[in-house]
Amino acid sequence: MMDTVILNEDNIEEAATLIKAGELVAFPTETVYGLGADATQATAVKQVYAAKGRPSDNPLIVHLSDVTELSQFVDPIPEAAMKLAEAFWPGPLTMIFEVKPGSLPAEVTGGLSTAAFRVPDHPLTLALIQKAGVPLVGPSANTSGKPSPTSAQHVSHDLSGKIAAVLDGGQTSVGIESTVLDLSVPEPVILRPGKIIGSDIAPFVSRFSTKNDLPADSQPKAPGMKYQHYSPDAKVLMMPADEKDWTAAVKKLVDQDKSVGVLASAEIIQGCGVDSQVSFELSQEDDISEASRQLFAGLRFLDEVVPKIDLILVQTYEDEGLGNAYMNRLQKSADNCYFIEQ
Ligand code: TXA
Ligand code: MG
Repeated sequence: MMDTVILNEDNIEEAATLIKAGELVAFPTETVYGLGADATQATAVKQVYAAKGRPSDNPLIVHLSDVTELSQFVDPIPEAAMKLAEAFWPGPLTMIFEVKPGSLPAEVTGGLSTAAFRVPDHPLTLALIQKAGVPLVGPSANTSGKPSPTSAQHVSHDLSGKIAAVLDGGQTSVGIESTVLDLSVPEPVILRPGKIIGSDIAPFVSRFSTKNDLPADSQPKAPGMKYQHYSPDAKVLMMPADEKDWTAAVKKLVDQDKSVGVLASAEIIQGCGVDSQVSFELSQEDDISEASRQLFAGLRFLDEVVPKIDLILVQTYEDEGLGNAYMNRLQKSADNCYFIEQ
């Protein structure tokens, strides 16, 4: 076990020195915290997989500080990509391209001919990439299979003792990982939904599809999408936002001697009369941006901070816009299970 130091905006130089020495430094972004390593050092990248317990066929996103750095790896850069970068970088859009052979270690790409890139929107991390002078790989900085980390405390919970440092940039603002858009194919595909949605992308590409449109038997194109994800130790069950149902569900489960956690709007929590110690407010005003920001934090709170919860009931949102990304993460976390009155 190593000592994991917590760094802040005064220690960017130290964080950059660690990265250049091949060490792992978790970094903040606007989406979730990433587990950073120098993308040009194969041995450092290998350690990222080891620290997370991540399958090695699941490729990593390369984080740049500016779109101009992309030309080292991608040539030619599709015109649509330049326009998308101008519109959304820095920001929660990851784009996949064919890369120049040999421009990145095979550990980064999982042996594919393509790689994923984004410019994250966080001043500390942009400064870190610039100071280090190298791009950073950055999968979400959680133990593989657990909810993604939205604070430095979440990162420490999973990875303390396994990585050199965590750069603490506070709570992340979006709370759900970036949209992944595959531009390496003739018709672009949204492989993972995020804050940037189809209607944001539509003006820049003549046609695109989303992963949900692909035939059910096709291989997952983003290898990470096939693994179990976002799973607390407690069982997660989804519930639509009807307050009467919540009151009945909580009562039913408590009668069965289940210890229940509730992750829902302030209104639902008040309405169903659950103990404040076993609930976590997804949002004050039933707002999807706030719920997305709090989803992983709430799952972690009820699973890691509150002792002995058997089952977490989580509020669903309409599956459109940002709600599509929220529901994608929640469905994985709940293994698609709803609370059903029996
Ligand atoms: O918001 C985010 O994207 C965060 C922050 C830290 O930047 N990062 C993140 O990384 O979510 P990760 O590794 O947890 O998810 C990356 C996703 C995975 O599903 C992976 O399979 C996919 O992107 N991916 C990466 N490279 C790919 C490629 N060449 N082709 C297809 N999918 C790829
Ligand atoms: Mg992840």
